[in-house]
Amino acid sequence: MKHLLNLTDLSGADIQRLLDLAVELKHEWKVGGGKDRLTGKTLAMVFQKPSLRTRVSFDVGMIHLGGQALYLSPNEIQLGRRESVADVARVLSRYVDGIMARVFAHDDIVELAQYSRVPVINGLSDYSHPCQGMADLLTILETHGRIAGLRIAFVGDGNNVARTLMFGAAKLGAEFVIATPAEYALPSQDVALARQYASESGGTVSALTDATTAVEGADVVYTDTWASMGQEDEAAARRRIFPPYQVNQQLLSGASPQVTVLHCLPAHRGEEITDEVADGPNSALFDQAENRLHAQKAILVELLG
Ligand code: CP
Ligand code: NVA
Repeated sequence: MKHLLNLTDLSGADIQRLLDLAVELKHEWKVGGGKDRLTGKTLAMVFQKPSLRTRVSFDVGMIHLGGQALYLSPNEIQLGRRESVADVARVLSRYVDGIMARVFAHDDIVELAQYSRVPVINGLSDYSHPCQGMADLLTILETHGRIAGLRIAFVGDGNNVARTLMFGAAKLGAEFVIATPAEYALPSQDVALARQYASESGGTVSALTDATTAVEGADVVYTDTWASMGQEDEAAARRRIFPPYQVNQQLLSGASPQVTVLHCLPAHRGEEITDEVADGPNSALFDQAENRLHAQKAILVELLG
């Protein structure tokens, strides 16, 4: 593993190994250990978009491991505007041991990795969010003890987070179902690729438009914002289309009684998820947010260690 741009870069065994390491690091941290795994290492964090979880969990993760992170705001680097993406990668590679970047266009993270001498980690692009995906899988593993064979339903927009979860679930042998409005479905080539992974892992992948059917008997129900960062202009139109995909108590009544509800956050309460569900007994939203820290520490140890 040299960079982490997508979960598709990893095999099912790689993902499982990183999850095992995340569990180990989480335990190690709780008993006060692991502070020298990345001593003297530095991580540049390049952001083109806002962030709470990604920014803080990478920063704190580096501190836990004995290293340091530098936050570079959208105004500073101005990736591709003040300076070309390739030159930013070349220069940062001379200063730091790793680069984490949150970008608009996925091509920018691919180009960063192409010209960087140090590992590049995708902290979210319009195409994927692999760090989130690893935290999601870790949370599912903790709540259900396994991933293979579980019915994991994503309800809402066929976005970066949905695509990443689909690939991760398919690689680990889950029964993945996504329900979106027809015009907001994941591209058919992504679904076909996930089906290929599922055929190798013993999982399945279904893409539907009916939320109730998708959630039927689900062990995990996942949702995300209806309008992602960069789609602010579409938010009002999307608010008219997506209400049948709201994760509320009625939708959840068709799921398994032990269902775990997940959301990458930030949540738009009253839109894609109700307060009742977000704060209800099946919600693991804040364990999931915490797991960003542990999952990313595993990625950092793997790539920078
Ligand atoms: N889930 C997530 O990536 O949150 P932030 O946008 O706050 O980093
Ligand atoms: N799909 C959302 C996720 C935010 C963490 C976005 O890209 O804005």
